[in-house]
Amino acid sequence: MTVSNSVSTVMGLVDAIEQRRAARSFKPDPIPEAVLMEILRLGLRAPSGYNLQPWRFLVLREAKHKEKLQACAFGQRQVAEAPVVLICCGDRRVNSREYVESIIQLGVDAGSMSDEYADVMRGAVPQLFDAQPSFETLEAWTNRHVMLAVAHLMVAAKGFGVDTCPMEGFATAQVKEAFQIPDQVDVCCLLPMGYADTPLKTYGGRFAIDQVCYEETFGKSLSD
Ligand SMILES: Cc1cc2nc3c(=O)[nH]c(=O)nc-3n(C[C@H](O)[C@H](O)[C@H](O)COP(=O)(O)O)c2cc1C
Repeated sequence: MTVSNSVSTVMGLVDAIEQRRAARSFKPDPIPEAVLMEILRLGLRAPSGYNLQPWRFLVLREAKHKEKLQACAFGQRQVAEAPVVLICCGDRRVNSREYVESIIQLGVDAGSMSDEYADVMRGAVPQLFDAQPSFETLEAWTNRHVMLAVAHLMVAAKGFGVDTCPMEGFATAQVKEAFQIPDQVDVCCLLPMGYADTPLKTYGGRFAIDQVCYEETFGKSLSD
């Protein structure tokens, strides 16, 4: 279908969203390198507050590393079976002056950063982290962002025919220790990726729009 950076999607956006399932079992077939890189590239297009991009992904492909991770994930089989597993992390240190300057430079290089906005960022990012008006903990902040990127990754992957399984079934402390993840980095989820073995998990249903979307007031159904 669409050819992007020399790899082709096998389905469009609507089908990718509708057909994505959390795969519990994977075939051993590897994900072609170009496909994996394209999925990662698209996943990293996710939005983030002040474009801070706090997500960090450990890409595991070696059996011994996947088995080590499986031991931290209550033995869930998809972790060892999938050809690729991402440990999806959020780095709390993105408010450092040096890091903010790197984001400003990214904007300068992309032609989208004005001097005025650069100064706004220099002032606002430390303030956001000090005052925390929209989050209770920095872990909530990192999770907010990382999971958006994970959602992008899952839909992008499905577009290329690659299945995924978002996972919160793991012991954070064990994963951090096993993979030497720094203290100020949160492990937000695991994402096994590959080609699902059949039968694929069936669709579990979703609430109707008017059960979860409210009209102006919390709790007031759109259809009332
Ligand atoms: C944050 C999150 C954590 C999850 N953790 C696990 C997990 O540890 N193991 C697992 O098999 N599935 C896990 N799932 C998959 C869900 O069970 C699955 O997404 C849900 O049942 C809906 O099914 P679907 O994704 O196939 O539509 C998780 C999903 C999310 C979004």
